[in-house]
Amino acid sequence: MQSALDRDALHPALQDPVLSSISFLNDIMSRYPDAISFAPGAPHLSFLADFDVARYVDRYVDHLCRERGHTPDQARALLYEYGPSRGLINELVATALRLDHGVTVSPDAVVITVGAQEAMLLALRALCRPAVDLIAVVEPCFVGVLGAARLLDIGVVAISETGDGIDLDQLETACRAARANGQRIRALYIAPDFSNPSGSILNIDARRRLLDLADREEFLLLEDNAYGFTASGEQLPTLKALDTDARVIYLGTFAKVCLPGARVGFVVADQIVRAADRPERLLADEITAIKSMVTVNTSPICQAIIGGMLLEHNGSLAALGHEKATLYRRNLALLLNELDQELSQGSGLPTGVSWNRPAGGFFVRMRLPVRADLALLELSASTYGVLWTPMSYFHLGSTGDNDLRLSCSYLDPEQIEEGISRLGGFLRSLSP
Ligand SMILES: Cc1ncc(COP(=O)(O)O)c(C=O)c1O
Repeated sequence: MQSALDRDALHPALQDPVLSSISFLNDIMSRYPDAISFAPGAPHLSFLADFDVARYVDRYVDHLCRERGHTPDQARALLYEYGPSRGLINELVATALRLDHGVTVSPDAVVITVGAQEAMLLALRALCRPAVDLIAVVEPCFVGVLGAARLLDIGVVAISETGDGIDLDQLETACRAARANGQRIRALYIAPDFSNPSGSILNIDARRRLLDLADREEFLLLEDNAYGFTASGEQLPTLKALDTDARVIYLGTFAKVCLPGARVGFVVADQIVRAADRPERLLADEITAIKSMVTVNTSPICQAIIGGMLLEHNGSLAALGHEKATLYRRNLALLLNELDQELSQGSGLPTGVSWNRPAGGFFVRMRLPVRADLALLELSASTYGVLWTPMSYFHLGSTGDNDLRLSCSYLDPEQIEEGISRLGGFLRSLSP
């Protein structure tokens, strides 16, 4: 018989439910193919239907030839060979940040990554020393960050979400407690614009107070702006735009606005790193060094697709996201409206069911009077044909055990209507 490895002798993160959360949801979706799934935070498929990869790659090659002085052969070689670890489309990303958010950074401060997920992992690795440095997160928190921290053996401190974003008093207390314990909170991860999973937003006053606190307590901010493009009307300024002291490391993804399969994201890290024995560098240089040992470089062909898309929209990511944002806002409004109709008072709903009303993003958080655990999800899928995401994955403790997340991005209007009707049936079955 083949000898086996003992799971307890592997990295302990492998036993953390966070690491199996995505494969678990994929598994349950494949076991119930007819269920309507409010689980995936994936872009709507209509945007990918006629996706013309060649057109975007050609557009980028054309840019390299016309504006960067490459011959067609040189340009193509750039796409087919290994590439620089920092990336190829850094200048285009810096331009998009300037056009869309009024953020001016040097292209050298940008590192193009394999999705925002790699950006998080690299930034955490660069920032945190073993055992001493912790990260704080706003709870509930995107699983990708929790998983990355777990893999890197970085301790995580949960800070509660409030109506205007985050409990800053609790964060301040946590910074002091860490210091008293010989540790330090190195950075706070936050998605100020329609967070995943709860759709919350940090108001302008809270943004300013958070930056002040970061200055006072000397921690950095990891700002994730995956969903800001869905805002209706004027977007609030990003933390990075308000940042005057290089406190903010900005994480970006092209998954929601371009295409997730390209796996392209980026990190902006314009912090200066000083050392006695060498000239100053940027934090982006350190992150690039780590990347050179993780994924080496982000696929140049995939960067060319994203580059071509940006160029077709005059360099603006916001312009690229405009049409998509309209669909996501329509879906979110419909989801909330259907919840209001289906789950109105007197509809036989058990007491203790409530949900929030985000103004943008992909997600709505719902609270149940019972635990929204895997057994309940299985029942919801098998008997009522509707899927959702248990929120326990997004919490460190047990505070989110009764919560679930509904995502509206992937579905058509008829599916949202039918799905909420099914969800209503399932919720009424919970009545005592
Ligand atoms: C808040 C947030 N950040 C980042 C990501 C991941 O981005 P990427 O696909 O570029 O790794 C997601 C994906 O769902 C997300 O919800």
